[in-house]
Amino acid sequence: MNYSIALIPGDGIGPEVVEPATEVLDAVGDKFGHVFNYVELEAGGKAIDSTGEPLPAETLEAAKQCDAVLLGAVGGPKWETLPGHLRPEAALLGLRSGLGVFANLRPAALLPQLKAACPLKDEVLMASHPEGKATFDLLIVRELTGGLYFGKKGRVDSSDTAARAAFDTEYYSWAEIERVLRAGYAAASVRRKKLCVVDKANVLESSRFWREVAAVVSKDYPDIETSYMYADNCSMQLIRAPGQFDVIVTSNVFGDILSDEASVLTGSIGMLPSASLGSPTDSLAKNDRPMGMYEPIHGSAPDIAGQDIANPLATILSTAMLLRYSFGLEKEARAIEAAVNAVLDNGLRTKDIANRSNTNHSNTAEKIVGTKAMGEAVLKALEQ
Ligand code: IPM
Ligand code: MG
Repeated sequence: MNYSIALIPGDGIGPEVVEPATEVLDAVGDKFGHVFNYVELEAGGKAIDSTGEPLPAETLEAAKQCDAVLLGAVGGPKWETLPGHLRPEAALLGLRSGLGVFANLRPAALLPQLKAACPLKDEVLMASHPEGKATFDLLIVRELTGGLYFGKKGRVDSSDTAARAAFDTEYYSWAEIERVLRAGYAAASVRRKKLCVVDKANVLESSRFWREVAAVVSKDYPDIETSYMYADNCSMQLIRAPGQFDVIVTSNVFGDILSDEASVLTGSIGMLPSASLGSPTDSLAKNDRPMGMYEPIHGSAPDIAGQDIANPLATILSTAMLLRYSFGLEKEARAIEAAVNAVLDNGLRTKDIANRSNTNHSNTAEKIVGTKAMGEAVLKALEQ
């Protein structure tokens, strides 16, 4: 079958990690008989430089026409002094809301090969794991198109400097909360059937409202255990007992913060893919599947751009999520994940996931490679 994929390489290391990811997609296409047609689009700093706007209307329109979107990263110091709505990050927010991709799936699991890169001691990991293993496997479902990121914001001006002010608003409708909770329950139902709503209900009215919605929605999922946790406690629990979590559902801003924290536990933020999904019933749904945008959770990392040292695995793993969620190609998705696994088994590491301690958990010697070599190794593993 033929599929169209909007490709937004973006800034910094974005193009470097998207390139190997498309090569991997093409190899999977060859192997399983699919054709992926790419529509390359500009957004972020690149678009600011060529059009003056972070998200040109044509980019959003063209992305909507495609079957899925694959994005590298946007942003960099060059554009940091621009006003908020003209910064590269505005492109990301515009794409998320324009595509209606409200459920952001950020899996964080510790791969056995990367145990040495995890900053937690084995005892810590084992204490919270249901079977006492030194690992964890959790999924953060972050609300992505509402809350503090999109609520009313503004400035209060005054000639008196001390009286000047600025505000952002945490605003959530019942419908926004309900749909992301349902996305969380759907994910939990094919995992370990545990869902934890993370909020700040001891202080925030919007969080108390999340709990009201969750109390009603949870009734539809009697086989899933629903629990509640405050975000500050969750940030602590993630580093003292990560094994207790299966699916975490949370607001846009809490999900942003907690997913960075969780990523470090996996060894490197350079490993984590993400999927941002819309509703299967909205106008952008393709072939009964929700609109999806896929991106590594790391940023554009301008400090290491152009040096061939960035880890392409998060983007490569994002393509696996793309095949799974947007195209329903489970076998193909697993082939990519297996290839990444094989490469790690063989000891290949980009700098960020290299063993930082002297303890060697595996018998395989590690070999540090660059972005390109890592991409090529995944391609080779796919052919086997
Ligand atoms: C993320 C990023 C973005 C966010 C930034 C780049 C706007 O941190 O995807 O987590 O805050 O959502
Ligand atoms: Mg973030």
